Amino acid sequence: MSKKQGNSTRCVHAGDTHDAATGGVMPAIHQSSTFAYPAMREQPEHIYTRISNPTRDAFERALNELEGGTRTFAFSSGQAASNAVLELLEPGDHVIGPANVYGGSFNLLRVAGEGRFEVSYVHQDQGPDAVQAAWRTNTRLVWMETPSNPLMRITDLKAVSGLCAERGALSCVDSTLATPLATQPLSLGCDITMHSITKYIAGHSDVLGGTLSVSDPDLAGRLKSVRDRTGGVLAPLDSYLALRGLKTMDLRVRRQFGNAARIARDLRQHEKVAQVCYAGLEDHPQHELAKRQMDGFGAVVSLHLHGDEAAPERLLNALELFTIAESLGGVESLAGYPPLMSHSTMTREAREAAGITGNLVRLSCGIEDADDLIADLHQALHHA
Ligand SMILES: Cc1ncc(COP(=O)(O)O)c(C=O)c1O
Repeated sequence: MSKKQGNSTRCVHAGDTHDAATGGVMPAIHQSSTFAYPAMREQPEHIYTRISNPTRDAFERALNELEGGTRTFAFSSGQAASNAVLELLEPGDHVIGPANVYGGSFNLLRVAGEGRFEVSYVHQDQGPDAVQAAWRTNTRLVWMETPSNPLMRITDLKAVSGLCAERGALSCVDSTLATPLATQPLSLGCDITMHSITKYIAGHSDVLGGTLSVSDPDLAGRLKSVRDRTGGVLAPLDSYLALRGLKTMDLRVRRQFGNAARIARDLRQHEKVAQVCYAGLEDHPQHELAKRQMDGFGAVVSLHLHGDEAAPERLLNALELFTIAESLGGVESLAGYPPLMSHSTMTREAREAAGITGNLVRLSCGIEDADDLIADLHQALHHA
């Protein structure tokens, strides 16, 4: 078949993951940590699960096909994947990170910046000029996150990765909130795409994991040796669950994006809501860029509420369908208060600089019926 296949077809068939030994439609969960040598000098295909494992390989092949990379590596968490990228750097190198970013990534860069590297934080959604202005002779990595968590700001991946290529620094993007279906950063020129697969890829709030995908075989080799050395690999059972999740990703994510768009439009009219942060809204500052760079606008919607700083707590405690919890991307809708939850490890100054204010609520829209989610938000906003 020569015609480019649709995303649901690609999700189901990516990586050719049938079990070759048994014909199993799904691969086996190979829990074995080690594999037998037929004789002392005869290495088996898999030697030791930290280095490779058939179930993890199947998941990596599938995601790699969706990302359009040469290699994808799966790690035990999104943070372990991000940390492997920092392991590529030399002490004293300069990193340009995003001012708008998941709190854990900010914290990872901040601690790395205390002694190991120099780190600058830039409002990357303001365009490549803002990144260029922070450039130093020792800049070796530009870390991006788009859409950003929780404010859904968009960074121009083609422009920033072009700048990195011109100036000889690695470009890496945390594309978790975009999902592999809405954005393919490697095709836009990024060196590394990172996902917390804990979110949309596994999709059921029952797996912790992360991935890095790359185009350049040399870079793949360097990341492989970091992972073999440091060992934060995705376990076989989690690899299986992630692969199972990936097969339904298009169905789930399209529904979630649709729910988010409806919620964002509806709440824009609400008297208790001061601002809705969602790149699918025409008045979002990077709406045109999002339309160009993404296929869909994501399933996170953040709200700045009117009223005092206790309004978010009153809203969260009144919600019935949305569960108050960390994380995002699963089939169930979640709600969180970034200053005390996902972004609590950011300093207050960094949160303020990013625009993560005390009146902010983050919604992760699940696959429930949009009318029910909207009704729940309306009854809870009544209490806010
Ligand atoms: C955008 C983003 N990147 C990275 C992470 C970290 O991933 P993990 O929790 O799988 O380590 C998160 C977690 O919330 C996230 O939202």
